[in-house]
Amino acid sequence: MRIGVLTAGGDAPGLNAAIRSIGIMAFRDGHELIGIENGWAGLANDFAGRDLTPNDLSGIVGQGGTLLGTARYDLDSPEGGRLHVLKAIDEHLDVLVAIGGDGTQRISYWLAECGAPVVGVPKTLDNDLIGTDYCIGFDTAVSIVAESLDRLYTTAASHHRVMIVETMGRATGWVAAMGGLAGGADLIVIPEFPMTMDEIIAHLVKRRTSRSAFSIVVVAEGINLGTVGGVESSEITSGGIGGVRLATRGVGHFVASKIDEYGGFEVRTTVLGHLQRGGSPTAYDRIWATRVGACAYDAVVAGKYGVIPLVRGNDVTLEPLSTVATGQRHVPRELYELCSAFF
Ligand code: F6P
Repeated sequence: MRIGVLTAGGDAPGLNAAIRSIGIMAFRDGHELIGIENGWAGLANDFAGRDLTPNDLSGIVGQGGTLLGTARYDLDSPEGGRLHVLKAIDEHLDVLVAIGGDGTQRISYWLAECGAPVVGVPKTLDNDLIGTDYCIGFDTAVSIVAESLDRLYTTAASHHRVMIVETMGRATGWVAAMGGLAGGADLIVIPEFPMTMDEIIAHLVKRRTSRSAFSIVVVAEGINLGTVGGVESSEITSGGIGGVRLATRGVGHFVASKIDEYGGFEVRTTVLGHLQRGGSPTAYDRIWATRVGACAYDAVVAGKYGVIPLVRGNDVTLEPLSTVATGQRHVPRELYELCSAFF
């Protein structure tokens, strides 16, 4: 069997562990593994697949990034991109395993609906894929945020400063909330539970008078600027985040500038950016990437297509791709309330 594998969208630590998991099992059973380069672009244009060997998979379980390369590729432009992908799968592969987040899995679902043999694997450090408790890359991102807060804590305390830390996460606050919880943040501002600038400043004033002269405030990149006294881009106010690169909105620096304007605080900003995506995956990411990869492989050899392995509690279950094709997973109120108990 010619099993194709691709990684699409933003990279995330743990992708190589998933590719390795699928590949080692495929080689064990005498199948071929075709690595598609640069995500959907490798199928929508000239076929960019190469036969992987066991050597390619050796020593990569702990390597970040993706050995296949990835891309944010808009399959609807140029027109016909999706049809090229369908054709390429038909001509070159017996089955395709697509590792990616919500955008990728929406394409996987569409392909499966068209009758293509496709199996998904959940990846996104944003952790916002609906229907699964875990996505490849999330644990590493959270660990990096937590470690950064540990480091910022000592300098914040020494200088009695307010430290604003901007995290990734797109329209959801998983990375900010869980990273902030693990790193002892004094305030976490996320899209799901908006705070006004007055509320943020009131919290800092209260902390300064009753508890501590310094504060660490985690701000998710996807918060609405309007709620903190700024002007939001029309793409975001109209309900979507489209192709807007959220980091360019600079919410961390904006919140810091407003605190500065209020006066009485010395403020510094750290934008963690792509540090949250780079480097080695945590053991947790390696283990779960291996588990979801293995489950995807089992589906492939069983001829179960149009499915994706999802994590529910401590188990991996195979679900239809339709489960992840619409909607988004948000931070629930009870989890945010737990974070708030430590503010
Ligand atoms: O979706 C993952 C993610 O890291 C988001 O958290 C972030 O907004 C985006 O990708 C950044 O994308 P790029 O690497 O294309 O700048």
